[in-house]
Amino acid sequence: MSILSFHDVSLRYPARQAGSGQPPLVLERINLSVETGEFIVVIGRSGSGKTSLLNLAAGFLTPSNGRIAVDGATIAGPGADRAVVFQDDALYPWLDARDNIAFPLKLRGVREKDRRVRAEELLELVGLADAGRRRISELSGGMRQRVGIARALASDPRFLLLDEPLGALDALTRAKMQGFLLDVWSKSRAGALLITHSIDEALLLASRVIVLSPNPGRLAADIETGFAAELLAGASVNQIKASPLFKRMHDGLTNLIHSISDETEAAA
Ligand SMILES: Nc1ncnc2c1ncn2[C@@H]1O[C@H](COP(=O)(O)OP(=O)(O)O)[C@@H](O)[C@H]1O
Ligand SMILES: [Mg+2]
Repeated sequence: MSILSFHDVSLRYPARQAGSGQPPLVLERINLSVETGEFIVVIGRSGSGKTSLLNLAAGFLTPSNGRIAVDGATIAGPGADRAVVFQDDALYPWLDARDNIAFPLKLRGVREKDRRVRAEELLELVGLADAGRRRISELSGGMRQRVGIARALASDPRFLLLDEPLGALDALTRAKMQGFLLDVWSKSRAGALLITHSIDEALLLASRVIVLSPNPGRLAADIETGFAAELLAGASVNQIKASPLFKRMHDGLTNLIHSISDETEAAA
């Protein structure tokens, strides 16, 4: 088991101009941990610091205060133990699907034959066994996101960091991809930290939902959920969404996010 942990993490971006005063706090005293086998979903309105939080976990940003650690050791930057998937898949258009997936292995000096075997396994895992030789331009949006997720899994990361990975997909593809993501994640045994705008998505995928309040970003709630476990055990999305508990939690989260936004607007 591994654990990715935030300890009293605060973040300010550097001032744009010298002498323009202290820039605002974007995140304030975040304490949060993600264990392997856990699926944490962070939800909050736009500008609440979700992407900043994920970039900190990835090691692309350094906290202004506090520290971020994997198994107790403070992270010093990006690492193969943490893989990132963004909304825009950022695949290499000049490579086919298989070579995109194998690319991180190439960077790590894995032999060509071993790279190919691993990439084929991952193509199979993400349901693209027949699409490995296709160019990226020949893939649909959903297929591209699967290639992006397979590429993130190529280096067997302990943590998957996903910033609105399904945000650019149409509603039907998105719903399909939610089930797919849950499945792939449960096979990977990684810890997941996923950011979304969608309350449905948060409730369906998470083992814990974290609500971030804006200005500065703070943890406003940390809620355990069991719907993802039900989905993995074979329940249908429709069954789950029709349950009184799902509706209650959906309403509760909606009210919480609205009330937080109203408060910050009133204070502004
Ligand atoms: N590179 C940056 N430099 C300065 N400010 C930034 C930068 N990136 C984000 N911000 C600010 O930090 C706040 C949080 O942004 P972000 O983490 O992108 O939020 P979210 O992902 O929840 O929409 C916003 O006020 C945004 O304007
Ligand atoms: Mg964002």
